[in-house]
Amino acid sequence: RKVGIIGVPFEKGQKKYGVSVAPAALRAAGLIEKLKEIEGLDVKDYGDIETPGIKEVNVANMDHLALVSACNKHLSACVTQVLKDNRIAVTIGGDHSIGLGTVDGHYKVNNDMILIWVDAHADINTNKTSDSGSVHGMPVALLVKEFSNYWPYLPTMDWQDVVFSIKSLGYIGLRSVDNFERLAIEKYKVPTFAMEDVEEHGIKNSIQHVLQALDPTNSRPIHVSFDIDALDALEAPSTGTPVRGGLTLREAINLMEIVYATGRLRAIDLVEINPAIGNEKDRQQTIDAGLCILKAALGFSRRGTAPRGVLDL
Ligand code: ARG
Ligand code: MN
Ligand code: MN
Repeated sequence: RKVGIIGVPFEKGQKKYGVSVAPAALRAAGLIEKLKEIEGLDVKDYGDIETPGIKEVNVANMDHLALVSACNKHLSACVTQVLKDNRIAVTIGGDHSIGLGTVDGHYKVNNDMILIWVDAHADINTNKTSDSGSVHGMPVALLVKEFSNYWPYLPTMDWQDVVFSIKSLGYIGLRSVDNFERLAIEKYKVPTFAMEDVEEHGIKNSIQHVLQALDPTNSRPIHVSFDIDALDALEAPSTGTPVRGGLTLREAINLMEIVYATGRLRAIDLVEINPAIGNEKDRQQTIDAGLCILKAALGFSRRGTAPRGVLDL
C-alpha cells in the first residue's frame, strides 16, 4: 500500500489564527516517520500547498472566497495527482474549507466515490444560511450538485465542476447542526449517525450502516473527511469550534480501523487541528489524537505487528 501526504497550511475558511500551523506541528510530531513504521506502507511526502497572495472578491456572507478558491483549486489538482500516482491521498489541514478541494480532486479520479464526513458539524450551510460567513461551514454545500440552485454566481470558482451527488454523502458524529442543515439532511435522507445514533448503535454499527446505505455492493472508493472536532472537546481541545459530548478517541480509532478493513479507503482529510489554542498539554493531546486516527486509517494494528519471517520463541 502506498500513501501520499499533502499539507495545507490554510486557515482563511474560519476566523481564528492557528489552524494553518497544523501541518508543521504534525510533521514535527513525527507524522511521516510514524506512518512509515506501519507495516507494508510506502509513504511519500508531497509537501505543503502554497496559497499565493490574491485579490479578494466580495460575496455576501462568504469570507475570503477568492483565497479559499485559489487554495482549493491547487489542492484539487494535487489530490488528483497523488491518486493518479496510485497512492491514498492523505491531506493535512488547515480548516475544513479544504474539503472542497480534496473531494473535487478525488471525484475527478473516482467519480463513484462515497464521502464520509466525520464531524460535530454538518458543514452544509450556504452563504444564505450561515450564521458565521466562514466557508469552513459550507464545503459540503459547495460540493453537491443538488445545491447548485441555492447558490448565487460565485466569482473565482469557475474551476469547480459541481458534479458530486448528495446521495453519495454520509455523516458520523454530528451534534451541532444548524436549522437549514437539518432540513437538508432530512430532505435528501443523508445517512447520518449523529451522536445520539452513535449512542444507540455503537460506533461499529454506525459506520457499517452508513457504508451499507451508500454502497450496498461494497465496491465504491471511500473518502473520509475527518474534522478533529468530531472528537469530544476533552479528547481534542485544540480546535476552533469545539463541542462537548463527542466521539472518544477509541471510537474514532475503531471507526478508522473499520474503514481501513474495507480495503477501499482512497482519501482521508484531517482538518481543524489548531495548535495555537490551549496549553502545551492540550496541543500535544490533540496532535497525538490526530496521529492515532491517521495510523488507524492506514493499517496500524493495536494488536502489534507480526514479525517478518519466522521467529522461534
Ligand atoms: N455551523 C457553523 C457555521 O456554519 C459551524 C461550522 C464549523 N465548521 C467546522 N469545519 N469546524 O459556521
Ligand atoms: Mn466541525
Ligand atoms: Mn468540519
